[in-house]
Amino acid sequence: MSQHETNVMILGSGGREHALAWKLRQSKFVGDIFVAPGNGGTEDIASSLDVDPSNKREVLEATKDCNAGLVVIGPEKPLVAGVGDFLRENNVLTYGPGSAGALLEGSKGEAVLFMKANDIPHPESVVFHDYVNAKKYLDLYFSGKAKKGVVIKADGPCDGKGVVVCDSAEQAQDAIEQMMVREEFGLAGQSVVIQKKLEGFEVSVMAIVSGDDYILLPTSEDHKQSHDNDQGKNTGGMGVAAPHPLVDDALLKVIEERIIRPTIAGLRKRKVDFRGTLYPGIMVTTDGPQVLEYNTRFGDPETEAIAPLLSGDLFTLLKQAAEGRPLHHLKYPIKKSSSIAVTLASKGYPGGPLEEREINISENVADPNVIVFHAGTARDEQRRLKTSGGRVLMVVGEGKTLSVARDTVYQFIESGNVYFDGMHYRRDIGARVRNK
Ligand code: GLY
Repeated sequence: MSQHETNVMILGSGGREHALAWKLRQSKFVGDIFVAPGNGGTEDIASSLDVDPSNKREVLEATKDCNAGLVVIGPEKPLVAGVGDFLRENNVLTYGPGSAGALLEGSKGEAVLFMKANDIPHPESVVFHDYVNAKKYLDLYFSGKAKKGVVIKADGPCDGKGVVVCDSAEQAQDAIEQMMVREEFGLAGQSVVIQKKLEGFEVSVMAIVSGDDYILLPTSEDHKQSHDNDQGKNTGGMGVAAPHPLVDDALLKVIEERIIRPTIAGLRKRKVDFRGTLYPGIMVTTDGPQVLEYNTRFGDPETEAIAPLLSGDLFTLLKQAAEGRPLHHLKYPIKKSSSIAVTLASKGYPGGPLEEREINISENVADPNVIVFHAGTARDEQRRLKTSGGRVLMVVGEGKTLSVARDTVYQFIESGNVYFDGMHYRRDIGARVRNK
């Protein structure tokens, strides 16, 4: 490591963290990269650390051992737990908001109050702290004429599982019982948000935020259901198209003016010095864009799709944000190309039980427009690659257009370059607008 290089530690173990490590590895300013705990793919470009990313003291000790000059926090759990605050208090430069900023993601109820206070468009939402009142509200709601569906969300973080879309009174009743009576999500489900279900299309927008300043990353379209044509159960994300095929400059401007800027201003009003990724999940309706939820971290698998589209130095950008310095003047360059990320999942995902399987990936991925990011993978004692989770790999294809990126990624997968027993994936990622 030269004196101009900085060691970087990334917290997390998914495809997002592999994509961040891959992009940071390209920076001439980065020395060694450590990923805590990492996965079978990050191990090829970084060192894995046996560290719990939510354990503040363990993380701090590791930063000292690794001489890390920048920590990038991937998942929401350590953010909500205040790992960012703790590291900063101990003079470790950290990319990722403190717990006050992460509360926008950590409490769905808080997010609703925040949006109401700052006039940020969002679906009609009511927060309940007790089952009896939630039930009364639902009885009244479904006895009305409109009888539109609702979305019921557990207040706290549930690893992406605490959101239930309900089209009938029975489904809604079961969802509040699951959360508030059977307590299947523990403390996270003691309060719930009941939201009117909106019609439209969803957009992921991620902004790198440094206090008052921000830059937008390419927009993207996540595909949450397990099967083609948005059928099947909700998952952590089965694939992404970037940029989003239906978001033009005019719509993006509206999103920026009505959502991104008021959110940053609202955080400032709360005296939150936000240094990290702000990622509202947005539904574009006939009444304009509305925030469905806030995330305060990089999206997964959005990050895997977007990383290949970034042509600037990611380390400089994240360091600048971590230092609370302005970002706009960097004029961070984004490629004009498009990408499609396809999640290869284990048999049974998003349910269980998930069984460990050996993974075969072509040693030489000859196509420079394809990258394979690892998520649920691990290496055994013989260094053989095994599945170790539901979402196993994200294969990303890049091309001049979404259509080219799509052909590239599916050709790669369908030629048998990557395989494990029980592997399944969606075949319609980015198919919404075929010729963009
Ligand atoms: N792609 C959804 C998420 O990151 O929450």
